[in-house]
Amino acid sequence: MPDYKLVIEGGRELRGETYVSGGKNTSLAVVPATLLAEDACQIENLPDIEDIRVLIQILRHLGAKVDWKPEQKQMVVDPSQLTSNEVPFKLSQRMRASYYIMGALLGRYGYAKVGYPGGCDLGSRPIDQHLKGFRALGAKIYEENGMIVLEGKLKGANINFDMVTVGGTINVMLAACRAQGDTVLTNCAREPHIVDTANFLNRIGARIRGAGTDTIRIRGVSKLNGAPYTVIPDQIETGTLMIAAAATRGDVVLHGCIPTHMEALTAKLLEMGILVTSQDDIISVQLRQGHRAIRLSTQEYPGFPTDLQQPMSALLTRALGTSEVIENIFDSRFKHLDEMRKMGAKSTINGKIAYIEGVPELHGAPVTSPDLRGGAALVIAGLMAKGVTEIYNPETIARGYEHLESKLNALGSVIRREPIILNGNGHANTL
Ligand code: EPU
Repeated sequence: MPDYKLVIEGGRELRGETYVSGGKNTSLAVVPATLLAEDACQIENLPDIEDIRVLIQILRHLGAKVDWKPEQKQMVVDPSQLTSNEVPFKLSQRMRASYYIMGALLGRYGYAKVGYPGGCDLGSRPIDQHLKGFRALGAKIYEENGMIVLEGKLKGANINFDMVTVGGTINVMLAACRAQGDTVLTNCAREPHIVDTANFLNRIGARIRGAGTDTIRIRGVSKLNGAPYTVIPDQIETGTLMIAAAATRGDVVLHGCIPTHMEALTAKLLEMGILVTSQDDIISVQLRQGHRAIRLSTQEYPGFPTDLQQPMSALLTRALGTSEVIENIFDSRFKHLDEMRKMGAKSTINGKIAYIEGVPELHGAPVTSPDLRGGAALVIAGLMAKGVTEIYNPETIARGYEHLESKLNALGSVIRREPIILNGNGHANTL
């Protein structure tokens, strides 16, 4: 049960400079990948988010030594003395990326027993492509008391994914690093964090070529060593802050970004009439007047990321005209629009298409965060709205954004956490 809500006093412009944190989805792959190494790895630039804390619990449960210094954004993982190859469901279901423990343990020990993964409810999220890849590498896979058991000595193989999957590409890449012989993965996802994970694996001794294209070639090696590594900045946090800056008609400079990762978003913001400039690792976003409606279609990288569809649709609620948003990756990623209707936004949903009719103004209201990016979208809507917005279920946001409220408050927003108590009828009251 959540014990706090976010309270946003809306209608303030964001102005000033801030930095972007290390990537969530890259960290959630690189940290499990350390299990493939013989020695300790020091990972830098990790975000201080709830999913990382859950991952630490999983690693410690396996017997890895983890030294996490969130203030220094640094973690040392020593996987040399693992005591277990099993992740119980009560841990695995707390996050999506627990699926990477399967690929890492299978690749290293030829055995893993892991509960099904959790993560945001975005509709059906099968892992059949992960399992298909493991099977092709020679793993025997079966269920035991609701847990997935994977075992076998792995051998390189040619694997063509039936659809483009980020998690599947990374997971099979993890398993194949220490397989005997060569693996070729085709129809791979090309997201920046796939390249980052491959770079980390190569740093510790793997032989992976082609990450970032649709074909990844892996020559199996018998041993991976420990090494230090710095993860890339968070593409989705960068985008969320860019959208928040525009949504409040603000003027914000973001440091520590990789502008080329942001090209799909930048192109859409420019099309809407928002000023975006970049130089080196800095992106600036400014909006003085109204912005135009657009047509947006989510795609795998380098297309428009599904993870920014929700924050972007908050911005579209006040665009001039009606926008069309097509969600191609997940079945159910529009729940935030139902919540935004309580704030005066106008939208209709027809299958995978949402039509968002721009309105002159949103007003504050109590709303519930449906999932991580949907929660971020509600924060943006709250920043735009007149009056006070209360966001319930805000821990969904803390799962994946590092200190979002403090970053936004440093730019001029007023967001605070307030405790919730329940009255005798089970209704939430503020203390
Ligand atoms: N799919 C299958 N079978 C599979 C794998 C995927 O049918 O075996 C389908 C999924 O159901 C979905 C599509 O393929 O419709 C794409 O799924 P993908 O595997 O690419 O996504 P994921 O690995 O479950 C990761 C991120 C998500 C992000 C997606 C897409 C992590 C931990 N999660 O999920 O991040 O939306 O890739 O880029 O890396 C988020 O950060 O908010 C988030 C949801």
